[in-house]
Amino acid sequence: MRRRAAATISGWPGHRPTPLRPLARIADELGIAAVLYKDESVRSELSSFKSLGGAYAVQCLLRERFEEATGDPVTLEDVARVRHPDLAAGITVTAATDGNHGRSVAWGAHRFGCGCVIHMHERVSIGRQTAVEAFGATVCRVPGNYDDSVRAAARDADLNGWLVVSDTSWPGYEDVPRSVMAGYTVMSSEAMDQWPFDASPTHVFLQGGCGGMAAAVCVDLWSRSRTTSPRFVVVEPDSAACLHDSAVAGVLQAVDITTETVMAGLSCGEVSLIAWPVIDAAVDDFLTIGDESIGPLMRRLARESSIVAGESAVAGLAGLMAAAADPDLARRLGLSPSSRVLLFGTEGATDPEVYRRLVD
Ligand SMILES: Cc1ncc(COP(=O)(O)O)c(C=O)c1O
Repeated sequence: MRRRAAATISGWPGHRPTPLRPLARIADELGIAAVLYKDESVRSELSSFKSLGGAYAVQCLLRERFEEATGDPVTLEDVARVRHPDLAAGITVTAATDGNHGRSVAWGAHRFGCGCVIHMHERVSIGRQTAVEAFGATVCRVPGNYDDSVRAAARDADLNGWLVVSDTSWPGYEDVPRSVMAGYTVMSSEAMDQWPFDASPTHVFLQGGCGGMAAAVCVDLWSRSRTTSPRFVVVEPDSAACLHDSAVAGVLQAVDITTETVMAGLSCGEVSLIAWPVIDAAVDDFLTIGDESIGPLMRRLARESSIVAGESAVAGLAGLMAAAADPDLARRLGLSPSSRVLLFGTEGATDPEVYRRLVD
């Protein structure tokens, strides 16, 4: 699945790997050997790793539907080249989003010629709505939080015969989120190809929303280094720590999100069903962070390293810095002068107005 995703996505127009950038001053300051930051701000025109998942899942789903409709074999390439425009035009895909996933689904629908309706909860910014609409999608606002918008998308899909392209999974709904996660592994595979040391990363800090990204990266990195797995640390906002809470309880826990974090992409209260077994098995530590360090870190990366890092992009770095600053926590996480840390800077200025407000 991962190889097929990589081969397909590498054929998208304008696709190229994003850089893996050393944060040498931060590593020095934390007293560790290296911090490497995979900079997804320059991932296609969508400026986030999410552009790899949703659009790829749209392509896979259309391929399946075209094959069912024609009774003939259909390839992903056929979908990319819009070889069945009439069939595509008769299909509408839908998804819930707090910004980036919906934008990816809308981009895919636009490219491959199908309709698209994106559900957004009431507190998602106007900037993120406009970014989705730029690809011709219809945005449907939903009362409540992200998890309410996930349920609304599934319900409206049932009512209207639309196809759900969700980045999170629930009982009986697994195949599409699996394609989404296969798309994400393009990011981690690139990072490992670009890794500049002979020895692997000792730690990987991964920000968690529904857990899809963390699980995809864990599986990808595990499959590469069966003998020496890095230590995986998941970082979530205090207000949406469903992965942390599930790990503590030993069973899946949901959080009813009442306060929105500035890290909009991580504001998910329910764990993706297919991500959980991987996270449960692979992740060593779970940290939660508040919003206060996010703006200053975005500003620091902009000024010191000319990196455009969005709100959710710096969550892993914020977790690393908080842990390194606390000697007891640093010891418990095994952070030492020989640590080589891999971070995923998962988005750029995906809402330029929010970015400017936080950085200026
Ligand atoms: C920028 C960004 N980073 C990280 C994540 C977390 O991904 P996941 O929900 O798969 O855990 C998201 C989710 O939307 C995101 O938009």
